[in-house]
Amino acid sequence: MGAWMINGVFALFFLLASTGLFFFVVTRGALLVRGLSSGSHTEKSHVYPIYSNMRLIKLVDFQPIISAILLFQYHRLVSNIVSGLRQSDLKNKKVLITSCAFGNVIPRVVNACVQAGAERVLVADIIRNELVHAQSKLREFSGKVEFIEENATAMKQPDGVAAANVMFFLLHELPHPLKVRALNEAGRMLAPGGKLLLAEFHRPELWVLRALSWTYFKVFEPLGLALWDTHDPLGCLESMGGWACERTTYFFGNFQIITATKL
Ligand SMILES: C[S@@+](CC[C@H](N)C(=O)[O-])C[C@H]1O[C@@H](n2cnc3c(N)ncnc32)[C@H](O)[C@@H]1O
Repeated sequence: MGAWMINGVFALFFLLASTGLFFFVVTRGALLVRGLSSGSHTEKSHVYPIYSNMRLIKLVDFQPIISAILLFQYHRLVSNIVSGLRQSDLKNKKVLITSCAFGNVIPRVVNACVQAGAERVLVADIIRNELVHAQSKLREFSGKVEFIEENATAMKQPDGVAAANVMFFLLHELPHPLKVRALNEAGRMLAPGGKLLLAEFHRPELWVLRALSWTYFKVFEPLGLALWDTHDPLGCLESMGGWACERTTYFFGNFQIITATKL
């Protein structure tokens, strides 16, 4: 093997290791340190610095990085949600986006809602900086979008306020009891016939992918593994009752979109 090849392998290894270390430090590592410190526990304690520090938000929110994190399925998942919204009756109705997310999901969702005649889109997040950042992507829709600093597990919005609610990769980051509360709140805020469009990780069918995915969750996002069994969102919704649910999986079962219609 030539020297240039050995250097190349080392450079690649160094790049991957430092990227992994960076993401560990700004996600789970920071939560571990937070857990050890004597500071008080708040409703925001589970939120990674990557979502609360404006410099980190701006550094990481770069479409190719976000697409790579979702194994280049991001575009497909967002397109499925957008087409679900286009098939819904949103004329003069309100739509909720429960929690911000990186990439272009929010502009694409808002655009679909506005084109479908929605009166207003409410973007909710527990972190103000996330809302400020989302606002910077939605300037062309000002007047149609409202930004609300609220907790997805205890929302202040009235019952039945929305015709649709988009929840994009929120559940896997919530402590387990809060996963169920967020789903309950989503149901409470939907009008009968309204749709919850939920994108999340799912237990992969291929054992190789399952092993890699398991390792990823154990290292970076241990709260996500429960989505494979004890807190499978479809199972949670079905046991709550009052929903008609459909699930589509993507990329050998690694991701899922659940469309849940409130009965
Ligand atoms: C939806 S996940 C991000 C998913 C994915 N990693 C991405 O960015 O594409 C992160 C967002 O959820 C928000 N969040 C976390 N817990 C929340 C809660 N209880 N209520 C509302 N928003 C919450 C965070 O502030 C952050 O904006």
